[in-house]
Amino acid sequence: MALSGKKVCFMTGATGILGGEIALSVAGQGYTVFFTYNSSEEKAAKTLEKIRWISPESRMVRCDVSKRSAIAGAFAAFRQHFDRLDLLIASASNFYTTPLLDVTEEEWDNLVDTNLKGTFFTMQEAVKIMQKQSFIARIITITDISANLVWRNFAPYTVSKAGIQHLTKIFAKTCAPGILVNSIAPGAVTINPEKEMDSEEEMIKKIPLKRLGDPLDIIKTITFLLESDYITGQVISVDGGRLLQ
Ligand SMILES: NC(=O)c1ccc[n+]([C@@H]2O[C@H](COP(=O)([O-])OP(=O)(O)OC[C@H]3O[C@@H](n4cnc5c(N)ncnc54)[C@H](OP(=O)(O)O)[C@@H]3O)[C@@H](O)[C@H]2O)c1
Repeated sequence: MALSGKKVCFMTGATGILGGEIALSVAGQGYTVFFTYNSSEEKAAKTLEKIRWISPESRMVRCDVSKRSAIAGAFAAFRQHFDRLDLLIASASNFYTTPLLDVTEEEWDNLVDTNLKGTFFTMQEAVKIMQKQSFIARIITITDISANLVWRNFAPYTVSKAGIQHLTKIFAKTCAPGILVNSIAPGAVTINPEKEMDSEEEMIKKIPLKRLGDPLDIIKTITFLLESDYITGQVISVDGGRLLQ
């Protein structure tokens, strides 16, 4: 059982391009990080190695967040090693093109179960631990500004992110005053040409601040939320003004 005075973060999706940077930065801010991965075992091992340079008691576990039982298993593993939970970052997510009239049941289930159902049950498990603690804990969900845009080719993804933003508010109201629950909605930060509909140039044209986001933009917002004691139930867009268009 690792318990010192050191804060502990449970994070899903730390093998992601952005997720990996977030996990590392949270470790750099004094947290021991317990993170989950699903299919990227090798990447997870490399991420853990880097995190352990900063935060040696950090750990990882495999967890398919689309399965309620796997989430329960990951939290059971967490409890074996840690007896406090200061921060949940729910970042695990799937993202791919699904033209509206061709969306299959499999695609719907895969995207909505991973993104929305997975985030819900992860938050539920985290709250069970956090609500017994005598100090303020925090939950940060990672959503997407596309929850507020009307994209024809990503409905299960954008609907799931909109659902998480709503859940963020429900959890914030239910869990106050002991747990602060907020969401960060990034605009485009990383580009995967196979998954995007627009080119990078086209994307930048739609952003008033004329650049894509950088992982550091998201990390600075997480740091801000970790230092804030009077913000809950908010969705913070970090998008260079993209939603203004
Ligand atoms: N990157 C951007 O530009 C951007 C823009 C807007 C919003 N966001 C949001 O920011 C967050 C982080 O983005 P990212 O770039 O790190 O995403 P990413 O590179 O696509 O990584 C996705 C992460 O989710 C995990 N995951 C996927 N399916 C899973 C499942 N069934 N069970 C458990 N984990 C699963 C992956 O784990 P494995 O690889 O181990 O399977 C990986 O860690 C996401 O919520 C994303 O929607 C990102």
